[in-house]
Amino acid sequence: MTTSSSEAPPPIGVFDSGLGGLSVLRELVQKLPRQRFIYVADSGHCPYGGKSQDQIIARAVAITDFLIARGAGLIVVACNTATIAAVEYLRANYSLNFVGMEPAVKPAVALTHSGVVGVLATGAALAGDKLLKLIDRHAGGVRVITQPCPGLVEQIEQGELNSAATRALVQRYTQPLLDAGADVIVLGCTHYPFLRSLITEVAGSQVRLLDTGEAVARRVASLVAANSGETVIAASIDWYSSGVPAQMERVGACLWGEAMSVAPLPKLNG
Ligand code: DGL
Repeated sequence: MTTSSSEAPPPIGVFDSGLGGLSVLRELVQKLPRQRFIYVADSGHCPYGGKSQDQIIARAVAITDFLIARGAGLIVVACNTATIAAVEYLRANYSLNFVGMEPAVKPAVALTHSGVVGVLATGAALAGDKLLKLIDRHAGGVRVITQPCPGLVEQIEQGELNSAATRALVQRYTQPLLDAGADVIVLGCTHYPFLRSLITEVAGSQVRLLDTGEAVARRVASLVAANSGETVIAASIDWYSSGVPAQMERVGACLWGEAMSVAPLPKLNG
């Protein structure tokens, strides 16, 4: 691995409650193909969707400390639930940049023809007022309906992208949105882009599905360019899981599209 400058830019840390953040990392690698990344899947504590804000903050802090100890210069909170619960706390307590997720409510409102937008998200993401405030800010005259999706993240963590059980959950969660006339559905959890095909089969191809991975990658690319100049090293990703590394190697490789060698995340306080 060679560099044309004496100092390589610091790696970018990316974390999620599990494998969902791979949908964001994919966009990051596209935009920054020569950047080093460290990805932490907190699969041992997944899902975050049923956890309290304090529990999610504790995990986010522990993972942030781990990423900083490994040299991360910027951290992407590749999880809507963790962003909603913890990103303000992280920004207030650390000096490095955090880029979080924001469900694509604004572009969805701009796209709808029916005047109805659906938002699929986790229970914890919908629990506070942050998402509701985002909706209030952007909805205008559009009706925005939110739908919690318990169980869906777990299916994706198991690699069950097209099983009968996953299909039944997708049917259950999208039907109320379709019945209300939604023609745009916001994927408000980074796991859900892995169900795009299934959701399209269930909802119909006329329904637009929006996620935020590409927008987040654009924001990160602008920060990296501003902070560290040209990135010149070969791309690399270090993979860590707080769950069972072999499970991430199996399911993660399917979602990511190539083999990955996953290290166990050391036991963290939090
Ligand atoms: N990928 C996470 C998100 O974007 C899933 C949260 C969970 O584990 O419930 O919200």
